[in-house]
Amino acid sequence: MGGTNRMRVLGIVGSPRRGGNTEILVDEILAGATEAGADTEKIILNELNILPCQACDACKDGGECVQEDDMSELLTQMESYPIWVLGTPVYWWGPSAQFKAFIDRWYGANQAVFKGRTIIVTIPMGSGNNKIAQHIVGMLNDIADYLGMDIAATVLAPGVHKRGAVREHQQVLDAAHQAGRDAVEGDN
Ligand SMILES: Cc1cc2nc3c(=O)[nH]c(=O)nc-3n(C[C@H](O)[C@H](O)[C@H](O)COP(=O)(O)O)c2cc1C
Repeated sequence: MGGTNRMRVLGIVGSPRRGGNTEILVDEILAGATEAGADTEKIILNELNILPCQACDACKDGGECVQEDDMSELLTQMESYPIWVLGTPVYWWGPSAQFKAFIDRWYGANQAVFKGRTIIVTIPMGSGNNKIAQHIVGMLNDIADYLGMDIAATVLAPGVHKRGAVREHQQVLDAAHQAGRDAVEGDN
């Protein structure tokens, strides 16, 4: 593999905590993808200006989104990556506000951006019980079905509360690494 045929993988971090568990997991997935020959890039949603959807339907009435922020550039960027890594921590049984605002803005996007995309999901949580992530997992599975995307892997990290605690969970890091490798190898 090489030159222009290299697979491209975009990591999207939905936690505001730099060096936190979500970022570590996304990094590990990207490292696996790099090992399999992909070019990777990482986005921190909290460092972009992504405003909430206003449900004005300007986008559906043939116009542009009324929000003048970083989302349209991000969508253009996302379009050039066949594989996306979506990471969010569990906040109150759901995703972070940054992540949910990002997903809500998919409403106004050209739906062709999503169809056929491969996704890897990763979710850390303080609780030791994976079930805490069930609403986020269910939400993303339903969204993927609806938009015609394929979820290649879901890497859950229970029992990690403090910043960087997931580094103590080698099995989860290995699963993340492998998910990155497999997605690239499976998509080539
Ligand atoms: C506002 C907030 C809400 C949270 N809610 C939950 C929760 O409902 N269940 C849970 O298991 N952990 C919860 N946590 C813990 C985070 O999921 C956990 O610390 C995670 O590892 C954070 O990821 P990060 O290091 O990438 O920020 C919450 C943390 C915050 C800051």
